Amino acid sequence: MTERRVAIVTGANGAIGVGICQGLAERNYEVVMVCRNAGRARQADGEIEKAVSGARLRIEIVDVSRKQEIAALAGRFAGRLDVLVNNAAVAPRRRTETPEGIETEFATNVLGYVWMMQAFEKALSAAAPARIVNVASYWAGDLDLDDLEFKRRDYNNDTAYRQSKQCNRMLTVAFARRWPPSQITVNACHPGDVHSTLSHALGYGGHESPEQGADTPVWLATDPSVAGVTGKYFAGRRQQACQFAKDEQAIARLLEICESW
Ligand SMILES: NC(=O)c1ccc[n+]([C@@H]2O[C@H](COP(=O)([O-])OP(=O)(O)OC[C@H]3O[C@@H](n4cnc5c(N)ncnc54)[C@H](OP(=O)(O)O)[C@@H]3O)[C@@H](O)[C@H]2O)c1
Repeated sequence: MTERRVAIVTGANGAIGVGICQGLAERNYEVVMVCRNAGRARQADGEIEKAVSGARLRIEIVDVSRKQEIAALAGRFAGRLDVLVNNAAVAPRRRTETPEGIETEFATNVLGYVWMMQAFEKALSAAAPARIVNVASYWAGDLDLDDLEFKRRDYNNDTAYRQSKQCNRMLTVAFARRWPPSQITVNACHPGDVHSTLSHALGYGGHESPEQGADTPVWLATDPSVAGVTGKYFAGRRQQACQFAKDEQAIARLLEICESW
């Protein structure tokens, strides 16, 4: 019998996160649900178990805005890892900082993705060919490399969010170059427009179901047609030209800053 493939999904109890976990469980992946709140994690776990009979799920309580918690997860993680889906995100209306003093939206949405890719490089490489999917957005822009944490600019959660999603797309290009596609592929995507805590905080709704929102991330994580494709940006299962992928200098500088934390 072939061993079940394993996927980690961050923000697994969120609207799109549940859809991604469900889609992966339906494809027979064991899913490690990375959540920061045990109650919300258990509720999501129950929903997925009800929807997918025989789903194999594991819960890990981790705050992805904190590097030590990600390192601790990687330290206790045992067994194979085929897929990492970076999906957790926040958009607090007021500027806040993590206990380490990093602006929360940048720490969660950007550094959290980087720290997860760094922490699980070894496990993913061991299961090659492995895949990383970075859930980003078409709603992206406003990057200021001299003020990533809104120390000089007035904080606005929409601007901070757009910046974070631009960073996800640029860092996807940078991390994809680290590994040959036969080892680990790294792609970014716009999921779908789904009503969620996040979309509410940003002041918009969402006309798609969580399942529709999860479709492109799950497809990127599992579909044979995208095996070996790396460093690209997708929406609606289609590769899109990414305006942020061309600025080599900015990508290099962003990577250097993120790796200095
Ligand atoms: N919804 C849309 O229309 C839309 C459109 C484009 C892109 N996206 C992207 O899709 C992804 C999922 O968004 P969503 O709409 O599903 O939002 P959501 O329902 O608000 O889910 C966000 C998830 O991230 C988790 N999270 C936040 N901070 C965390 C932390 N420090 N540590 C661990 N987990 C943390 C949340 O946990 P808690 O429940 O504990 O807060 C929640 O599970 C995001 O990357 C977002 O940028 C969404």
